Amino acid sequence: MSAPARILVTKRVFPEAVEFLRREFEVDYNGTDRVLPSDELIQRARGCAAVVSQLTDRLSADVIAALDGVRIIANVAVGYDNIDVAAATARSIAVTNTPGVLTETTADFAFALLMAAARRVVEAHAFVHSGQWSTWIIDLLAGQDIHGATLGIFGLGRIGAAVARRGRGFGMRILYCDDQPAPPELERELEARRVSREELLRESDFVSLHVPLTPATRHLIGAAELAMMKPSAILVNTARGPVVDEAALAEALEKRTIWAAGLDVFEDEPRVHPKLLELPNVVLAPHIASASFSTRRRMSMMAAENAAAALAGRRPPNLVNPEVWR
Ligand code: GLV
Repeated sequence: MSAPARILVTKRVFPEAVEFLRREFEVDYNGTDRVLPSDELIQRARGCAAVVSQLTDRLSADVIAALDGVRIIANVAVGYDNIDVAAATARSIAVTNTPGVLTETTADFAFALLMAAARRVVEAHAFVHSGQWSTWIIDLLAGQDIHGATLGIFGLGRIGAAVARRGRGFGMRILYCDDQPAPPELERELEARRVSREELLRESDFVSLHVPLTPATRHLIGAAELAMMKPSAILVNTARGPVVDEAALAEALEKRTIWAAGLDVFEDEPRVHPKLLELPNVVLAPHIASASFSTRRRMSMMAAENAAAALAGRRPPNLVNPEVWR
């Protein structure tokens, strides 16, 4: 009998995923939260047929070129901008992601950021804690209404549509901007109207980003776009940090070109633009939109199942480069 194939799991995942892989494979498991430097990742991937990666692993063309014998990279995330997919495809390496399982959890959190920023929940908490609360004041910590407002969604995919549904529950009017029109039944369900980027920015009270990070979406929201938004508008980003020009956003928040923002992702994580750390009108979170126990467990399992399928010669369910699987 041939030796079991070897899999590198680059970082800690939910334990059932590792238990599942260990039933059939030899697993080199970095069971810590330390990101493996590229040279260590390459060295540990030697002799491995699969790599279960996370979005903190930068799988550049150079790293991929050194992954001899690897047949699949199974990313524990729906986004895969950390992987040079073209380089993987050129070397016939399958790349998979974890779509679907995190849609509702991520939409919940986008809405939580939207509400927290609009109604100043974090400021209010800090205010009570600080002992400054002396009496009821007519405009104390007054914010923006959510119900009945206009919600502009960039990217009406799975997560964008789930956020829009939450907005509908609050009686919001939905505008969206996407390269592709949404299916007519979805537009009908959400009563959503596809508009130009400019119309969305000018009309929306809330702008929520749900596009993948690609060369076309890098700095989709920069100084010019922020200038088009209403002074009362709130920007929510649970997509990828570089979709927003963070320095331009910090300036717009400081000058009140826009009113507030809720951010889960940053251009150079875990670094956050220093100005954002000082402003009261921004709610910050450390890239946790999909972080419910159940969803992160399912994402871990899904990546493990993708890796196991490929090594068993089966098409992995969540292949992002189908060209490699003929
Ligand atoms: C998280 O950011 C993901 O892409 O799943």
